[in-house]
Amino acid sequence: MWFEEWMRGAGAMLALALYAVLCWRAWHQAKQLRGGGVSAAALAVDWRVVFASQTGSAEMLARQTAHALVDAGLSAACLPLGRLRAADLAQGGCCLFIVSTAGEGDAPDDAQAFVRHALTQTPDLAGLRYVVLALGDRSYPHFNAFGRRLDAWLQAASAEALAERIELDRCDAKGVQVWRELLATLTGRSAVQLGEVAGVTGAATEWRLAARTCLNPGSEGGAVYRLNFTACEPGADWQSGDLVEVSLPGNDTRPRAYSIASVPTEGMLQLLVRLHVRADGEPGWVSHHLGRTLRVGDRLRLRLRPHPGFQLAGNARRPLILIGNGVGLAGLRAHLMARMADGQRQNWLIFGERHRVVDDLHADDLVTWRAQGVLARLDAVYSREGAACRYVQDVLHREAAQLADWVARGAAIYVCGSRQGMGEGVDRALQAILGEAALAHLADSGRYCRDVF
Ligand SMILES: Cc1cc2nc3c(=O)[nH]c(=O)nc-3n(C[C@H](O)[C@H](O)[C@H](O)COP(=O)(O)OP(=O)(O)OC[C@H]3O[C@@H](n4cnc5c(N)ncnc54)[C@H](O)[C@@H]3O)c2cc1C
Ligand SMILES: Cc1cc2nc3c(=O)[nH]c(=O)nc-3n(C[C@H](O)[C@H](O)[C@H](O)COP(=O)(O)O)c2cc1C
Repeated sequence: MWFEEWMRGAGAMLALALYAVLCWRAWHQAKQLRGGGVSAAALAVDWRVVFASQTGSAEMLARQTAHALVDAGLSAACLPLGRLRAADLAQGGCCLFIVSTAGEGDAPDDAQAFVRHALTQTPDLAGLRYVVLALGDRSYPHFNAFGRRLDAWLQAASAEALAERIELDRCDAKGVQVWRELLATLTGRSAVQLGEVAGVTGAATEWRLAARTCLNPGSEGGAVYRLNFTACEPGADWQSGDLVEVSLPGNDTRPRAYSIASVPTEGMLQLLVRLHVRADGEPGWVSHHLGRTLRVGDRLRLRLRPHPGFQLAGNARRPLILIGNGVGLAGLRAHLMARMADGQRQNWLIFGERHRVVDDLHADDLVTWRAQGVLARLDAVYSREGAACRYVQDVLHREAAQLADWVARGAAIYVCGSRQGMGEGVDRALQAILGEAALAHLADSGRYCRDVF
């Protein structure tokens, strides 16, 4: 007995030690690169187009902007803000910052490293010339808060604004036109084409509701529906991790995002939608339309939204730790279906709901995943069943040694579901288990990916 416990303890120590060595190597390599890990060539261009983006719009706009500058004969490079450090900016030159606001007035996840390392300092950026293009949505209480914070920090550091900050409200066409005009001035061209900007002109396409099932009849929580849509037009394509946007005709125009739960080879686009109830008790507009009003056979326009920060990308061959709750299963399911098709079996699913019987949202899928051997490990926890381990973050603490071992073997971590409670709790647990610096390194290297809302 004592020997088994000793072995388990020694195994955990070994995994943590191995992980510490890997972190040190990664840190050392990053240190050898300049500043935050940006090549000297990327810093030497005439224009640096720097983006911070949660769901891809700012990144897309930044790439289009860099193309437009190159087309005009200038040298330009597109960089994520999270890879820059204050020292990189202190070298001077021209920077176009294209940044969105996420959460409750927060920086997007991919800019957190910059917030930690640079925004906490007051460097001298007197040689830097810049413009900030802020992407936000006026219906949030902290409109464009991160773009404004970045601009204030640049001003305090004596950087020179080439033009006033431009603020987009849901990528409004007028604001994008102001940006085009600014680029035309900067490049000396009469007009600059930027192609499609997500949320402005990205085409919505027609889909038909083929099936809808309530997955949790009798639940204490809001009803969750699984909706399967088939495309009415050919050519629909997406990757696991992507989103769709639903806008309904009427006064209420902010599109609602939903995580896609399926992959295109399944021949349908699946969503998991929980009926939302507003603070005043009124039914949520779009979730009720999807769950209650729309009839099987009805058509609906959906806009596919790439979500680069949550796609598998460079993690396709790594072990995956998939963590989520409730309708967050959607994004995790899509990844598991992609992994199944790709023959990748190193997948650890950690999923939480309220009650085992009524809230078992993945009951059907589990049969398939078990039969295909796609789950190397499954931990399902139910918060209202009286067990000591109630939430997914409790599983992380309980399995800390296993978690460190998976990460030491190169695993990437994907988190999908509610930001409050789950997303924040998981983040705190990962920081406590892996250490703040190691978690930040995982995020910076694209191995800690979140779709939390
Ligand atoms: C990246 C992402 C992925 C998501 N994935 C899923 C998923 O897979 N499944 C799921 O069920 N949900 C998901 N959601 C939540 C979903 O987008 C909706 O917020 C939810 O369905 C409630 O929308 P509703 O229209 O029913 O509720 P409503 O209460 O009508 O609206 C929801 C939100 O919009 C705001 N709002 C309401 N009226 C207006 C208005 N006139 N103008 C501007 N804003 C307004 C409200 O403050 C509220 O925050 C996701 C959200 C995000 C950001
Ligand atoms: C969950 C969530 C939180 C958001 N929070 C804010 C906010 O606090 N302030 C704001 O101005 N916009 C907010 N937005 C709107 C986004 O900034 C806006 O949609 C932007 O175009 C997204 O750009 P991105 O795709 O590059 O992340 C939020 C959007 C989402 C989905």
